Amino acid sequence: MNRSYRIGVIGGDGTGPEVVAEGIKVLKALSRTTGIDFEFTTFDIGGDRYLREGLLTTDEEIATLKTMDAIFLGAIGHPDVRPGILERDILLRLRFDLDLYINLRPVVLFEGVDTPLKGKGPEDIDFVVIRENSEGMYAGGGGFFKKGTPDEVAIQESVNTRKGVERCIRYAFELCRKRNRKKILTLCAKTNVLIYESDLWRRVFEETATEYPDITVNYQHVDALCMWMIKNPEQFDVIVTNNLFGDIITDIGAIIQGGLGIAAGGNINPEGTAMFEPIGGSAPKYAGQGKINPLAAICAAQMMAAYLGETDGANRLLAAIKQVVNGNIQSMDAGRMGYSTSQVGDMVADCLA
Ligand code: IPM
Ligand code: MN
Repeated sequence: MNRSYRIGVIGGDGTGPEVVAEGIKVLKALSRTTGIDFEFTTFDIGGDRYLREGLLTTDEEIATLKTMDAIFLGAIGHPDVRPGILERDILLRLRFDLDLYINLRPVVLFEGVDTPLKGKGPEDIDFVVIRENSEGMYAGGGGFFKKGTPDEVAIQESVNTRKGVERCIRYAFELCRKRNRKKILTLCAKTNVLIYESDLWRRVFEETATEYPDITVNYQHVDALCMWMIKNPEQFDVIVTNNLFGDIITDIGAIIQGGLGIAAGGNINPEGTAMFEPIGGSAPKYAGQGKINPLAAICAAQMMAAYLGETDGANRLLAAIKQVVNGNIQSMDAGRMGYSTSQVGDMVADCLA
């Protein structure tokens, strides 16, 4: 049986295109050994085009991307573009317009990868963060009053809808059940201060929990959770949280699983398309040098295969990644891998052959 998937590719900025190329290399190697066929369509979206043509994302591009089976994104962020422009009008626009309301960020320490956590190993670091990806501080309005004067006021609002909170929490319960590990779902919020926003999250969490008697529910304030992720990460199975807290805690997650060189995530609409990305950013200082670690992008490609329902292919790719990180690569950090970007991609592709 030949299964064919249309993948939209956005290399984006900095090292994005380099790491995405290695992800594609690995997916092509996978299709040579399985019946899976990938058709890649490249989109020239990013800081360079913006500087050249003033275009961020066009309505046409968004419409075409919506028709893809999945999207493979490198990174968005350019040193010559003021912060906020590319992020809001490319990355966040894709998340919002495609309603990719789940940001799925696994935090898994593979055998052979160093963690900065003393005394912790792969058996201790294996959980998933479900970050709400369409609302919160990222979607709120706000404004300035008396800007630039000593009386200036800046307001930044957070939007939380019952529908948005509920679909995210429900997804987390379902995933926790499907993972079938510790079966503990932790809500991360700040009910002691955010008495509206976190209260809604807590109520929806408690209501939804009644439908999942097999899942143990747990609550942690975000500040305490940051501490526990470092002190006792082994307690976690699935964590669900809002957009901003999820952004912050997944950087802690990335570093304890070996760094941005290996951390990947998926922006998912469970009823529609999904976009997979290495979460490390565009790392402009390493661009074009062949020093950046492509494993995060390769892990993103692996998540994409799993999302497309190619369980066997995804498992094979995961095994290949594990083989390469265990004893082969010296470090997950850019420039210290002992190999170039494309050599690391070759190693994973060779493992698949
Ligand atoms: C991430 C990034 C983005 C975010 C930035 C680039 C807007 O940090 O995907 O975690 O804050 O969501
Ligand atoms: Mn982030």
